[in-house]
Amino acid sequence: MTSSPATSAPSGPAHSTAVTNIGALATNDPSLRTPENPLGLIQDAAVVIEGDRVVWTGTTSKAPATDSHHDAGGRALLPGFVDSHAHLVFAGDRTAEFHARMSGRPYSAGGIRTTVAATRAATDDALSANVARYLAEALRQGTTTQETKSGYGLTTHDEARALRIAAGHTDEVTYLGAHVVAPEFADDPAAYVALVTGEMLDACAPHARWIDVFCEEGAFDGDQARAVLTAGAARGLIPRVHANQLSYGPGVRLAVELDAASADHCTHLTDADVDALAGAPRTVATLLPGAEFSTRAVYPDARRLLDAGATVALSTDCNPGSSFTSSMAFCVALAVRDMGMTPDEAVLAATLGGARALRRTDVGTVTPGARADLHLLDAPSHVHLAYRPGVPLTAAVWQAGKRV
Ligand code: NIG
Ligand code: FE
Repeated sequence: MTSSPATSAPSGPAHSTAVTNIGALATNDPSLRTPENPLGLIQDAAVVIEGDRVVWTGTTSKAPATDSHHDAGGRALLPGFVDSHAHLVFAGDRTAEFHARMSGRPYSAGGIRTTVAATRAATDDALSANVARYLAEALRQGTTTQETKSGYGLTTHDEARALRIAAGHTDEVTYLGAHVVAPEFADDPAAYVALVTGEMLDACAPHARWIDVFCEEGAFDGDQARAVLTAGAARGLIPRVHANQLSYGPGVRLAVELDAASADHCTHLTDADVDALAGAPRTVATLLPGAEFSTRAVYPDARRLLDAGATVALSTDCNPGSSFTSSMAFCVALAVRDMGMTPDEAVLAATLGGARALRRTDVGTVTPGARADLHLLDAPSHVHLAYRPGVPLTAAVWQAGKRV
């Protein structure tokens, strides 16, 4: 068995463990993926973990000896989900708004302000406990990499503390001071953009890797979004954009122009938007079907994006307003049922797609050298994620080599 230097403890080789007797292993391994086998499936497979890394994959009969082993009993195993879009730093909930919506009221971004008021009023401990709770909830369902955003503070103090708290729980943290114009600036949006790109950015940049903006009617227009993203990029934050969610608009093309890591939502796309995404493989189209489900809106057309050649990710958008789910499996099921994706495409988008949207090469695959993030299903095939919607199928999860 080969051991990579990165995984060896200074005092000797790390503990090795094998997961054997995997009925179908979805590796996403580029050396195994073909048009007929888009997930790089290995049947009767085994995975060997050493420390926090995968060091070997293959068939069970050829697996090397290890310190310990786990018999998967013929179940399916896939990479942990990579949820590249969520809003977990919040307080309160919006049950009443959801109830009203399901009684016929349309969704508007205005509800964000309800959560802003509750979030500002919450203690640091309460916010931190909430983030921990939803991260744990997601992890139990197989999500081993979780991005999260600010965006419910909208003051320098509240945005910076949201990011500080988020950074205490995950290393994929996004500054979204430009979620909506803060209520105090309702009459002077330009002054709010100046704050977001000035003092607030100064306070937030040290805690974040990404910068995001909600480019939408009622939030920020194309020029404002460009100002926000370029100011963030000048501070080393990589852009991502809430784009074309509620209406057609400039968000997707701005994302491509600025080499953003992702254009998120992509629900209302012109042919020019689709062409732009297809021509920009580094800007991932991140689809968030939980939002359309929970706002009774039309789903994005994943088929159109895939057929054009765009890179697609699936994520939850977990937030208390438009998509209060942490379940990537649910998003996979919606994408298959309602967005024209095959089960293989949806599983790929929920794992490798998310990794690409976060520009990560260490997650989203089960290949030698990757972080050992494994999701064992209580099912013989990854297809069951869509075939058995709503059923908790997670049998076991390993995150960075540790069984959780
Ligand atoms: O991604 N689109 C903007 N932001 C969130 C909604 C947030 C909210 O309604 O609280 C979203 O759907
Ligand atoms: Fe969002």
